[in-house]
Amino acid sequence: MVEEEADEVVNDAMTYDQIWLIGFSGTGKSRLVRPIATALDWQALDMDTLIEEDAGENVRAIFRRGGEDAFRAIETKIVERVAEMKDVVIATGGGSVLAESNREAMKRRGFVVCLDAREETIALRIQQSGAHISDRPLLESDDPLAKIIALKAERQPLYAQADFILQTDDLTPHQCTHQILLAFRERQQQAVAGGA
Ligand code: S3P
Repeated sequence: MVEEEADEVVNDAMTYDQIWLIGFSGTGKSRLVRPIATALDWQALDMDTLIEEDAGENVRAIFRRGGEDAFRAIETKIVERVAEMKDVVIATGGGSVLAESNREAMKRRGFVVCLDAREETIALRIQQSGAHISDRPLLESDDPLAKIIALKAERQPLYAQADFILQTDDLTPHQCTHQILLAFRERQQQAVAGGA
């Protein structure tokens, strides 16, 4: 499509003014968004918070009232809105990559970072976060680990489309932040030199 070609040309010629953190629940997106934004003097945004503000109710209530479709519709609206913003780091929800239009919007001006972790690490982090499992309706199950394994495997090809993938299991938040900033600055320099 002509429009897609035009987008690609623009992306080659410009620098990134957004960093999108994608990846499964419990991979560290919400934990890392602030330190990365602070280091760049950018604004930190959390998609689930923006969705809840827009809907006037929490994620659990949105799912209960309208199901996953209702949640995804608001999510896409917020992705479009945020994709117009400048100098922002965004912690996305784990399923935000499901819609192709979302993935395209993220890549328009953004450097897309996928945070990854082993399924056991994810289960442990979610448990330790103190959040109730019903805060993540898609993981509600008698066997959350099995649910994590199945859903993550299904989404892996979409997460793999990121510009940079970081395995977070054995890294501290400080180390993750450092690695992401290094990768971002390297890519930014390539973009400035016209070789992105
Ligand atoms: C979801 C992940 C959640 C939240 C919603 C759906 C998903 O965000 O957006 O429950 O589909 O994986 P986190 O990735 O912050 O848990």
